[in-house]
Amino acid sequence: MRRKLAAGNWKMNGTAADLAELNVLATLMPADAPEVIICPPAPLLYRASTAAQATPISIGAQDCHMQASGAFTGDISAAMIADTGAAYVIVGHSERREAHAERDRDIRKKAKAAWASNLTAIICIGETLEDHEANNTLDIIAGQLAGSLPSAVTAENTIIAYEPVWAIGTGKVPTLDQIAEVHDFIRSKLAIRYGADIADMIPLLYGGSVKPENAALIFEAENVDGALVGGASLKATDFAPIISALAQS
Ligand code: PGA
Repeated sequence: MRRKLAAGNWKMNGTAADLAELNVLATLMPADAPEVIICPPAPLLYRASTAAQATPISIGAQDCHMQASGAFTGDISAAMIADTGAAYVIVGHSERREAHAERDRDIRKKAKAAWASNLTAIICIGETLEDHEANNTLDIIAGQLAGSLPSAVTAENTIIAYEPVWAIGTGKVPTLDQIAEVHDFIRSKLAIRYGADIADMIPLLYGGSVKPENAALIFEAENVDGALVGGASLKATDFAPIISALAQS
């Protein structure tokens, strides 16, 4: 059985007072909840990790630098993230690909840096609206998988999040058939590269406007193992029903 996971990406939202949401979320989560990860902004990682110790929630970062240390003002390394108690790091989110011009090969290096510090990498891929409208989605996904994933991917060190750029923060969601098609495609590409045994166990998350209202439908797709949630992860009262829908899927 593949792991099910619900990951919340707080993006550049939240200060220490918002960490109270972790306890509320732990109270609202069903007893049979899947793995839950919250990725707060970097300054909150240590406090979040400490606060989450009394809960089943794990903590992740939103990005890491590809180098272990050095003259990179403002950046944080994977070792620094691990030192806060966090266990996961998102790499290659489309907002980083766009606003920070991150390329596939940068993301591949970041994933390796994450592993070197024993962090699980949540590697994001997804096509733009232009690619989607030109029917190029599967080509783009194939290219991003080939370029962003290192060769040593395992089901323990990597989670893949498929997030169509046009669905992030827009309230627009692909149809269930579209989501299923891309997730099936990703799984088949992983099987070719890493073998069916590894590919079958790698969690594939869908991300982009996942809400309490649409989560159950999205989780119907066979190769969707969970969600990467932005806006609806900020409030425990929004995130908890998504987690419950995943538990029931
Ligand atoms: P959203 O963001 O749920 O607010 O659309 C998803 C993401 O960027 O991971």
